[in-house]
Amino acid sequence: MSRRAVVFGAAGQVGVELVRELRRRRFAVMAWDRSQVDITDPMAVQNALADCDAEVVFNAASYNQVDVAEKEPQAAFLVNALAVRNLALACRQADAQLVHFSTDYVFDGSARHPYVEEDPTHPLGAYAVSKLAGELYAQAYLDRALVVRTSGVFGPGGLANGRGNFVELMLRLAASPNPIRVVGNHIASPTFAPLLAARTIDLVGGDHSGLFHIGGGAPISWFQFARLIFETAGIDPVLLATNEREYRTPVRRPEYSALSNAKMERIGLAPMPPLRDALLSYFAERPMAQAAKRG
Ligand SMILES: NC(=O)c1ccc[n+]([C@@H]2O[C@H](COP(=O)([O-])OP(=O)(O)OC[C@H]3O[C@@H](n4cnc5c(N)ncnc54)[C@H](OP(=O)(O)O)[C@@H]3O)[C@@H](O)[C@H]2O)c1
Repeated sequence: MSRRAVVFGAAGQVGVELVRELRRRRFAVMAWDRSQVDITDPMAVQNALADCDAEVVFNAASYNQVDVAEKEPQAAFLVNALAVRNLALACRQADAQLVHFSTDYVFDGSARHPYVEEDPTHPLGAYAVSKLAGELYAQAYLDRALVVRTSGVFGPGGLANGRGNFVELMLRLAASPNPIRVVGNHIASPTFAPLLAARTIDLVGGDHSGLFHIGGGAPISWFQFARLIFETAGIDPVLLATNEREYRTPVRRPEYSALSNAKMERIGLAPMPPLRDALLSYFAERPMAQAAKRG
């Protein structure tokens, strides 16, 4: 009999890849986007889980507007923290494993090595605080929750749902004649959504729980990532490095938030391929995502 899985937030970049990969691996999948189940509604979550006898529940839903969250911290907290409590309580009731996603922004960026799971957290803004609270809620009510922190997610789902991602932002800017300025002193681990989904399901398959980092592999600055995007796309717009003093945003972001995949690799999961390969896959899938967007 196939294993039964549920995906909340199924229309997001990670949600669509989880659904695709779970189905590929012959899971029986129930998947809901926000219009079908709003995870901030405890009864909606409870009812959804009551009917489906799921073994594993993936929460790919998230409030991800890092800057806007400073104006509406309650909205971020509702989705990223209190709704995770709803899910954790419902999973406890249904005896299902909760798989929850979190962020590199739980760190303050003062490290100069890729962050490991044991590093102390110190979020710098409302979005980051809400995501850390979500981790705590998942762990507070459940003994076997799996929490996966990731970084700079890009996947074809971002194109289809119109929200976009960093790759799409760069391509859009490249279509205008103005020079493109990207921070050169902020380092992260941009992560390809299909690979994140596959490694996360590997963890579930291996019966793992606890906290894991799954980043894109090698640390890279946003400026270097933009350059790699343009090289891979075969275009050559004017690209200039900037920094947060020149380019101010409403929220402080960690200067260094690369994630170490060492724990994931130690238990036998395949290392992430080079970022260039992930971008090649992204560009190979992009026409299909564009066609889906056009309907
Ligand atoms: N994107 C990144 O760069 C990044 C970086 C680090 C960590 N992460 C983490 O990775 C995970 C997946 O992110 P992603 O890139 O896939 O995000 P995404 O593309 O923005 O998808 C998030 C999904 O959550 C849905 N959602 C929002 N509020 C909801 C609610 N109340 N009930 C149900 N669904 C709701 C959204 O629906 P609507 O479209 O209707 O709003 C959207 O489909 C998140 O936990 C995120 O924090 C992402």
